Amino acid sequence: MTVRGVSILGSTGSIGRNTLRVVESLGPAKFRVVALGAGRNIAQLADQISRHQPELVSVQTAEAAEQLRVELRGRDISPPRIAIGESGLIAVATHSEADCVVSGTVGAVGFVPTLRALEAGKRVALANKETLVMAGELMTRAAAKSGAELLPVDSEHNALHQCLRGEQRSEVRRIILTASGGPFRTHDKTAIESATVAEAMKHPTWNMGAKITIDSATLMNKGLEVIEAHWLFGFSADEISIVVHPESVVHSMIELIDGSVIAQMGVTDMRHAIQYASELAPLDLAKLTSLHFEEPDLERFPCISLAYRALKTGGTLPAAMNAANEEAVHAFIDERIALTDIARVIESVMNRHQTCPATDLEAVLDADRTARAAAAGVIESLTRAPVVSSAA
Ligand SMILES: NC(=O)c1ccc[n+]([C@@H]2O[C@H](COP(=O)([O-])OP(=O)(O)OC[C@H]3O[C@@H](n4cnc5c(N)ncnc54)[C@H](OP(=O)(O)O)[C@@H]3O)[C@@H](O)[C@H]2O)c1
Repeated sequence: MTVRGVSILGSTGSIGRNTLRVVESLGPAKFRVVALGAGRNIAQLADQISRHQPELVSVQTAEAAEQLRVELRGRDISPPRIAIGESGLIAVATHSEADCVVSGTVGAVGFVPTLRALEAGKRVALANKETLVMAGELMTRAAAKSGAELLPVDSEHNALHQCLRGEQRSEVRRIILTASGGPFRTHDKTAIESATVAEAMKHPTWNMGAKITIDSATLMNKGLEVIEAHWLFGFSADEISIVVHPESVVHSMIELIDGSVIAQMGVTDMRHAIQYASELAPLDLAKLTSLHFEEPDLERFPCISLAYRALKTGGTLPAAMNAANEEAVHAFIDERIALTDIARVIESVMNRHQTCPATDLEAVLDADRTARAAAAGVIESLTRAPVVSSAA
């Protein structure tokens, strides 16, 4: 059996750590970790290096690299090469011995490295959905040109991949993404307006990184997934629906033209989507006493409509939406704006964005930069607003 080389972008995050658990459970006869890309969590990265001994690692800054050298001193391993910043992540993504690249960084930082992996013909297991939202056309074109495989790690898209297997495209009427509804599913508008970061971080069914957890609270995560599904499976915005399903047992569904629905079900564990791992508990059907499905409330969760609008308009608007969302989520986590301001920031940036074709890298990066600058201005004005009103 051939041993496959694996590179992981975002190895210290939730997806990265789960990937390493899968790699460990499958054993060294199947996979060898050749390169790891992380940000600033040096203690975690150093432990991963001790366990997996990759040839190359990348960290966010020169200070982090120095910290890592100190951490690794005295460990009984041959130290890896240490690269830095975006060029470091690109080196991890295109490592000559990597057969498979797990794209598990969060946000736009993973975009160019993931694109380079696809251009290099790597098999890319994509969790970093923001990259496909920003530049679906560029990414899918790069994969088609090099013959690279682009596999979804998101549990919903992984489920769709399984549901669609063996079905004729002409037989499928629509795809249906399930959403847990997040921690504010049953809250009214006022309660959502005053939600704290700690409340928003309590996801009912999944344990994930901070940004995706906040995206799940605003349901922007589902909006991003609609755009991701469009690029992965070629369905139009009108052929992709969302249904809220609080138990998160059904990971997604497809509806055929005869009206029948095919659902994929499983336990809520990302390792299923990353790779089948034998240690996982199977779904105990006898314990499933009831499953609920409801329409998403677009008034309380306006991010969904913003994502549909971005997808329908196309061009650079999804990249602008994604950048505005990232900036707004960080501002919410820093307690500078309210949870409901996130949609306000995104909408304001989208209204001002001059959409152009997203057919080259510079256009996408420019939309990302411009939207971040515009979002910073909107966030600043929202941050000042309460001070002005309380003084009045
Ligand atoms: N978690 C899930 O279950 C799940 C499910 C579906 C999809 N996803 C998607 O997968 C992606 C990762 O999510 P996550 O939950 O794993 O996020 P996370 O736990 O926050 O991990 C993010 C990873 O990205 C790294 N990173 C962040 N900024 C970086 C930078 N500037 N340079 C280099 N590395 C950087 C972090 O490094 P440090 O921690 O070392 O700073 C960390 O390794 C997201 O796009 C998310 O939407 C996640």
